[in-house]
Amino acid sequence: MAPDIAIEPIAVRHIESYHQALDVVARERRYLTFLEAPPLEDTRKFVLDMIDNKHPQFVAVKDGEVVGWCDIRRHFFPSHAHRGSLGMGIIPACRGQGLGLRLMETTLKEARQCDIIRVELSVHADNARAIRLYEKAGFVSEGVSKDAARIDGRYLDVVNMALIFSRT
Ligand SMILES: CC(C)(COP(=O)(O)OP(=O)(O)OC[C@H]1O[C@@H](n2cnc3c(N)ncnc32)[C@H](O)[C@@H]1OP(=O)(O)O)[C@@H](O)C(=O)NCCC(=O)NCCS
Repeated sequence: MAPDIAIEPIAVRHIESYHQALDVVARERRYLTFLEAPPLEDTRKFVLDMIDNKHPQFVAVKDGEVVGWCDIRRHFFPSHAHRGSLGMGIIPACRGQGLGLRLMETTLKEARQCDIIRVELSVHADNARAIRLYEKAGFVSEGVSKDAARIDGRYLDVVNMALIFSRT
């Protein structure tokens, strides 16, 4: 546990440092679909849209800087609007301290309050730490997409996972 790291709903003041954290994790070229952050203005639009539409997005903040994030974006079509897609990441220096679980639990709680019933994610099959975290939070595998990602010429299988909240 890292008590000096706060979990906060994302706000406009976080955008630049969220963009920086996203870029750091993306450039590791191991975990994310992005291999670098999108341009800052695209990230700004994404975050403002998340805020305006009340999609759950939380950031972990240390000394005023974003060090991790977790977001769940609601699907667009009305018949799929009970579903949301989860993405998350933490900069290398802040991993392994239980922050992933704190971010995840806070974001899932908010999703549930927003009537998102089914949360989905995709994770590279070799990302054992992330898969362990997701299983701990209640996600189950719904199957593997073979060779679904290719990074630096290496093909990676992707595990599709989902968590369905009780409807009662
Ligand atoms: C994945 C991520 C969010 C996990 O958050 P975290 O706070 O670092 O998580 P922790 O280190 O506390 O580990 C979570 C669990 O995995 C376990 N774990 C750690 N390394 C592991 C490994 N190599 N194999 C299996 N389990 C592992 C931990 O022991 C812990 O389980 P426990 O609570 O039962 O002990 C974070 O490491 C991260 O951002 N990684 C890079 C980006 C990424 O992978 N994003 C997700 C893309 S889908």
